[in-house]
This record gives sequence, C-alpha cells and structure tokens, in this order.
Amino acid sequence: MTPALGDYAGEDLQPAVEKNLFGKYEVGKLLGYGAFAKVYQGWDIESEQTVAIKSINKQRIIKGGLTGHVKREISAMRRLRHPNIVRLQEVLANQKKIYFVLEFAKGGELFGKVAKSRFSEDLSRRYFQQLISAIGYCHSRGVYHRDLKPENLLLDDHWNLKVTDFGLSAVTEEVASDGLLHTMCGTPAYVAPEILAKKGYDGAKVDIWSCGIILYVLNAGYLPFNDPNLMVMYRKIYKGEFRVPKWTSPELKRFLSRLLDTNPHTRISVDEIIKDPWFRIGYKDARICSDQLEMKDGNLKSLNAFDIISFSSGYNLSGLFDDQDHGEMFLSRVAPEEIIGRVAEAAEEESLTVATRKKWCVKVDGGQYSNFTLTVEVKRLTEELVVVEVRWRECETEPGSEMWKDRLRPQLIGLIYQPDTPVAGD
Ligand code: ADE
Repeated sequence: MTPALGDYAGEDLQPAVEKNLFGKYEVGKLLGYGAFAKVYQGWDIESEQTVAIKSINKQRIIKGGLTGHVKREISAMRRLRHPNIVRLQEVLANQKKIYFVLEFAKGGELFGKVAKSRFSEDLSRRYFQQLISAIGYCHSRGVYHRDLKPENLLLDDHWNLKVTDFGLSAVTEEVASDGLLHTMCGTPAYVAPEILAKKGYDGAKVDIWSCGIILYVLNAGYLPFNDPNLMVMYRKIYKGEFRVPKWTSPELKRFLSRLLDTNPHTRISVDEIIKDPWFRIGYKDARICSDQLEMKDGNLKSLNAFDIISFSSGYNLSGLFDDQDHGEMFLSRVAPEEIIGRVAEAAEEESLTVATRKKWCVKVDGGQYSNFTLTVEVKRLTEELVVVEVRWRECETEPGSEMWKDRLRPQLIGLIYQPDTPVAGD
C-alpha cells in the first residue's frame, strides 16, 4: 500500500516499532497506510519468517454494521491459495483492531518497476498472465477483488506477481459506504465505468476492466484515461476511447479493446481471455497442482484440514490433477497398506490383473489382451490422513473412468474420508 496524500485515517502516526502482537509476532516498520488500514512489516516468532501485518480499526467496521460481512470475507479470503495471491496466514483481533497476518511480498510494488520504465510486450504479458491466473482462480470461488490497482500488485523475491487485498478490499470499500471516509479514496483511474455510473455491477467484469487498465499501463507506462480534472477523467472512462502507443502490436491493441469495453455484457470474460491468441503465448496456468501441495515429509505439518478442504469440493480432490479425465484423488484415514490391499482385492474381483504391488502403490491392468491400466498411489498428508491418487489409461473396450467409477470405486467407498464442513480457522 502506498501512502497517499490525504489518505490517512488520523490516529497514532508513529509506527509501532518492535511492538509485540499476542506473543506471536513482532511488529516492525510501517509499510504503508490508507483510509482504513495500516500495513506493517512483521516477524513471525514461531516460523522465523517475515510477514506483513495489516491492521484495521474495528470501530469503523462495527459502526458500519459490517461485522458479519467482514467475517464472511475473511473466511473466503482464508480459502484462497494460489501462487500469485498474497496468502492470508492468520487473523487476530483485540478490542480495537483486527490484524491480518499476510505473506510478505519482498519485491515491493510492481508499479515501482513500471515507474522506472515501461515493460516490453513479453514482460507485460507475463505479469498479465499471472494476474489473470489469480483473478480466474478467485472468481471461480466466488471472490471478487473489486479494487484492483497498482498498490495491490506486489512482487515476491523471485519477481513473481502477488495480488493482495483479495476480499479485504471489498470490506474496506464497504466500510467507506458509511459515508465517513469514502471521499478520500483517491483516483478512479482503475474503476470500471459501470461503478462510476453507480449501476449494479458484476464483480467479475469490474475486475476485468481493472486488469485491462493494468495491462495498458504495463505496456504504455501511463494511464489510458487520465486528466488532472476528475470530471474530465470520468468522462473519458465512460466513453472508453483510448489510444495505444505506437509500439503496441495490433494483437495487443485488439485485446486491450476487448478488456476496456465499456459495456460489461460484451466485455471479454476470463474464459475468453485464456483463449485469446495474444494472451496464450507462453501461458502456463499456475493452478494448484499436486506437486504444489508439497507432500514431502518435511512439509507435512504445514497442511491442516482447513487447507486440504479448501482445495476440494466434497470428497473428490481431482481438481488438483492437471488432467481430470484420467484420474481421481480422495482423502482417506485408512492405513496405506490396507488401501493397497483393498484395491488389489477389488481389481481381482473385477477380473483385472495386479501387475505390480508395492507398499504405497498398486498397478492393475486388463491382462494380456488389453491396454487398460490403472494405478493407485497413496501419499501421506498428515499423521491421520492420506491422499489416494487414482490414474488410468484408457483403452477402447474398457474405458478407464468407467472401470474405476462403476466397478472399482463402489467397492472402495468405505476408504474415502469425506470431511463435513470446512474448518473455519478464525
Ligand atoms: N504492503 C502491503 N502488503 C504487503 C505485503 N503483503 N508484503 C509486502 N508489502 C506489503
């Protein structure tokens, strides 16, 4: 967050240098502040890692009657786990403040880098791809940012984008609607025309507009709609007419015009963005995949039931697979050896052959005249839980998904652990 003139809420100006928070965090220097929140650098005493601590004044939230809303936003935010989103680690509160303990983005603001010089088209695309990966992930979980702007785009120590304030911005934004402080909220340069028009709006389309402005700025080094006079700037945004700098390729120009379409109904969607030829170049979605779960022994403790469930819908964790048509994944509390034994029995029951059997893995096939294979692998997740990965290779006579879903899985239902409800962590 960048300190902005006239943006300061007015209480205790001194940063809480080395203040201790609940015996868990050391609070260090002030990184930035806005109308409703301050962000400090902090130190997590247990993990010995730097964190960012965002403090919000509780009084304003209570006055705005937004306590329930804030709680909902927090639980949505806690479920977000994506390599390009600043992770919300913990929420703490005392009588006066709510503290969000956030992953620390060491590289600072992305736009600190653009300010030095505009980015090449390739670099603009790389950051834009990371941004869309994060936005698409959140939208698919019903979380909209609604306040994407440069100060919310940070970099980690590997120069990867980290979007911050997902969900939280919606909180602070609505705190503003109590009429106390919203007039101080800075420039509308990134705000979609339908918001300025005070029409009802679709959170997804609003975020896409802001992404369009961000892409424009990355490529051009300046804003598409700008004027020192706010009314003039508003008018430019409504009209949606912009010129691109001469170095912009025709493909990027066309793509920008689809993002900065003033009509939210015809504006490009995330699904369409991902199919766009300019966007697609070199695109690798950083979707959470199985190896990002870091199931190596040393990291087991970093996953709890909340983390696991937040990835999943029902018992089925297949969303973690890159190729969901050829596999399924579920949780189990049953011992790995027993799981493997039960799979082998079920396979034999279905006249399949057990080709290899190890302690944590079994491979079955359809025998000599069949191409069909199915592999079940068990990985320990926590002391009590394992992840069971099932993968199959199709063959014409025995489609793998049918063999698994209709014939083997029904025999193994008892192995599946289905958590009831996500565990709220706050
Ligand atoms: N400024 C605001 N949020 C931050 C974060 N998570 N890391 C570093 N600086 C920040």
